[in-house]
Amino acid sequence: MALLEPLTEEALIPVLEEFYQNGATIIRGVLSRAECEAICSRVDQVFAEPHFVNMRNVKLDTPPNDRDPIVVHRLFECDRLFRDLLVREPIISIAETVLGPQCHCIAQGCILNRQDFGINSFHVDDNLEFPITNDAVPRHRADVRMPVLRMSVQIALTDQDEGRYGPSQFVPGSNYSGRQPNDPENPSFNGQGPISLLMKAGDLYLLNGQTWHRGAPNTSDRVRYLFHQVYGQRFVAQRFWPYLNYHMPEHVLDGAGERLLRVLGKHPEMSYG
Ligand SMILES: [Fe+2]
Repeated sequence: MALLEPLTEEALIPVLEEFYQNGATIIRGVLSRAECEAICSRVDQVFAEPHFVNMRNVKLDTPPNDRDPIVVHRLFECDRLFRDLLVREPIISIAETVLGPQCHCIAQGCILNRQDFGINSFHVDDNLEFPITNDAVPRHRADVRMPVLRMSVQIALTDQDEGRYGPSQFVPGSNYSGRQPNDPENPSFNGQGPISLLMKAGDLYLLNGQTWHRGAPNTSDRVRYLFHQVYGQRFVAQRFWPYLNYHMPEHVLDGAGERLLRVLGKHPEMSYG
């Protein structure tokens, strides 16, 4: 069974409280297992397409562990299966609640972690937004809600419910640290070390990219598929890779409703044009 409706207010409040406080929170059973399997096989096809192989500059006969990036970007271009996930409930209504009704997509892709091959160092995504430069100040105040300018929705397409399958890990509350991780493999914040986000296929977690996080090393022979779609507040410019002169293909817009068009970048004129 999959969730297809917005969360009720009663269900949403604790989810958002945990997200704002800890920087990440799990929502269970958003996609069905059958959907996850369908998405995985389409991702496999996309990875094998010459366009993407060329983009990654690797040869098809290269052993998997030697293949350069493990991420495919802009999946919304490849199939409506991916594109329509951008406005899937309850995902989109949560994004609108956190980032505002004019939020939009700034990335959609999938990470494939093969054995011992992944993004295994703790990091924040892109820049540190609110750095604390005074060593005597240990953290941002707990009674301030840290702004969320962009939010990742990370969907498990395969079971990653034990340490050996390379689950995502994060350090609770580190979105309040104002700093980069204090250790690449075993950071701690406020006396708390990393915890694993153990998920079955179809579960997802919301991530504030300012939270220290990583994928734990995958020591099994099961490929870990983690699908991500990232939303930004309206003022966060859409910045689809490779950024300069990117043009969204017309077919992505065909048949899209108004909500999806907005998520793809159609907005009314506002403060900055
Ligand atoms: Fe990351």
